[in-house]
Amino acid sequence: MSENFEVKVDSKSYIPDPAYREQSFLGDYKAVYKEFIQDPDEFWSRMAKEIEWIKPWTKVLEWNHPYARWFTGGTLNITTSCLDRHVKEGRRNKLALIWRGEDGEERVYTYRQLHRDVMRFANALKKIGVQKGDRICFYMPLVPEHIIALLACARIGAIHSIVYAGFGAEALHSRIRDAEAKVVITADVGKRRGKVISLRSIVDDAVRNAPSVEKVIVLCREKCSVELYSEMEEDFYSLLEGVSADCSPEEMDAEEPLFILYTSGTTGMPKGIVHSCGGYATGVHYTAKYLFDLKENDVIWCTADTGWITGHSYIVYGPLSVGATVVITETTPDWPDPGIWWSIIEELGVTLFYTAPTAIRMFMRVGEEWPNKYNLDSLRIIGSVGEPLNPEAFEWYYRVIGKMRCPILDTWWQTETGMHMITTPLGEPMKPGFAGVPIPGIIADVVDEEGNSLPPGQGGLLVIKKPWPSMMRTVYRNDERYKKYWNQIKDYYAAGDLAVKDEDGYFMILGRADDIIIVAGHNLGTAEVESALVEHEAVAEAAVIGVPDEIKGQAVKAFVILVKGYTPSQKLVSELTYHVRMSIGPIAMPAAIEFVDTLPRTRSGKIMRRILKAKEMNMDLGDTSTLEE
Ligand code: PRX
Repeated sequence: MSENFEVKVDSKSYIPDPAYREQSFLGDYKAVYKEFIQDPDEFWSRMAKEIEWIKPWTKVLEWNHPYARWFTGGTLNITTSCLDRHVKEGRRNKLALIWRGEDGEERVYTYRQLHRDVMRFANALKKIGVQKGDRICFYMPLVPEHIIALLACARIGAIHSIVYAGFGAEALHSRIRDAEAKVVITADVGKRRGKVISLRSIVDDAVRNAPSVEKVIVLCREKCSVELYSEMEEDFYSLLEGVSADCSPEEMDAEEPLFILYTSGTTGMPKGIVHSCGGYATGVHYTAKYLFDLKENDVIWCTADTGWITGHSYIVYGPLSVGATVVITETTPDWPDPGIWWSIIEELGVTLFYTAPTAIRMFMRVGEEWPNKYNLDSLRIIGSVGEPLNPEAFEWYYRVIGKMRCPILDTWWQTETGMHMITTPLGEPMKPGFAGVPIPGIIADVVDEEGNSLPPGQGGLLVIKKPWPSMMRTVYRNDERYKKYWNQIKDYYAAGDLAVKDEDGYFMILGRADDIIIVAGHNLGTAEVESALVEHEAVAEAAVIGVPDEIKGQAVKAFVILVKGYTPSQKLVSELTYHVRMSIGPIAMPAAIEFVDTLPRTRSGKIMRRILKAKEMNMDLGDTSTLEE
């Protein structure tokens, strides 16, 4: 993007029932924001005091651009905020976790049970030699053992790196190698749409040629269980035999890493985003309590997977830190029918429902008769995340699911930010199409490439102007890639998104400014898909763009130059599509492949995806001065 652009902003708004604000933890957004601006250190110090610390910090923030240290000198273990304190403070028999399987099977854990099981698994990890700082890679379905094992890592200071179990072997392999994982935790199978999907066979492929891996722990869900092939494998439950259920929390420096989570970048290998113990714990507690307004009796269902940041922050750490009841399911929104999710809300009395626009658009298409069959009165707040919530989807969500009663929290944030950054705090007017305003603690703006603030109605780059506690600390083993976030535009954090503000300071997120495609709320790097295509023997070169898709927001379209001797055919299209599916996973599968003889390039040889995109959408080609003849 080289020039700023005008954006027409419509300012329709809905005013929520004032009781929401009156009864909220946050109270008056504008007043709290002002308090933060007057004394940011005091504000964050107050928030950090709401979680459990072992040793207090001596300094709130040390900012040495682009590196931040938050809560210097403080030590903690996030699991004591998520578990121990609830057990101590009279919430031991409260439900922490309710799990629903596809076939309706249900398992529940109280805080006491979860605490005990986490400590046992933590000891089991120690038993096989896992130590503080070791990287543990997860490739698991969304079952309670996943949450238990993840918290067990945090308990002993091992760094978890969760890979979404829908990724293919190659994607898993590269993440295992980059993190130099010592242990991989998986399950024999995942379940989806009535089918059993083997995960362990994918892990078998992925750990080949990954010398760091010493053990693979397998949760056996099927009968076939425990016949583990090699010495490397351990059975999840056998490991727990004879292990003590008491494990004191590892004392972690606030700045030590809690986890790594890979996200797509514009070039090459996905980036291992590193989050710290103290700042992250503070950020997710703060937002779960003051933005989601999670109270004692709330039942939160965030439909994301733990493989994404949304799952880390708002399935696991945030809600457990505030002591809410968390629902997790292995279900798909439309299987066995599109009423399944609404039936779960009714049965389990979900009060806060958090999902993605893609799911909302899918439900819009199948018709409101499905949600209308169920009683959704338990809902108090409904949320959205991952991609822009377009006004049509907002209206439908608000009317059909929220019954014009539940506020919508459209939350803009990223893997890198760790927590919500922009949303519409309870009580503030909601504007369809706009995510909302920067939350207290965050200074956001829309700027041009030089970092000059742009007036309302002018589209530009979304930046965050000051550090915040749950910001990523670095890209794993790649400081250079980290520095780029803070060096691209003045001294600000460049989110990589395009946005526009209105007269009231509300932000509308317009999409990515770079070569990342968001398909159904999942980040995909064009480079990642292109390199998977080029791996195929028939492909000489490939370029990938995002094209609009009614349900998924965007879909992948690939342009492919074939190696001499190959001719375009439908069979080849299927073969390439399958190849991408196996290599990266179903989310990266091209919706269309077009065979071409040339690709538009700059004089220096870079592919100009912008030109492909403009042609595809019948748009003006824009500035073509750098285009090679
Ligand atoms: O483009 C923005 C989009 O998702 C990107 C971040 O993706 P990821 O790191 O996978 O995290 C997704 C979940 C937090 C952003 O750069 N995005 C996220 N939330 C929104 C959004 N776009 C518009 N509106 C949102 N609410």
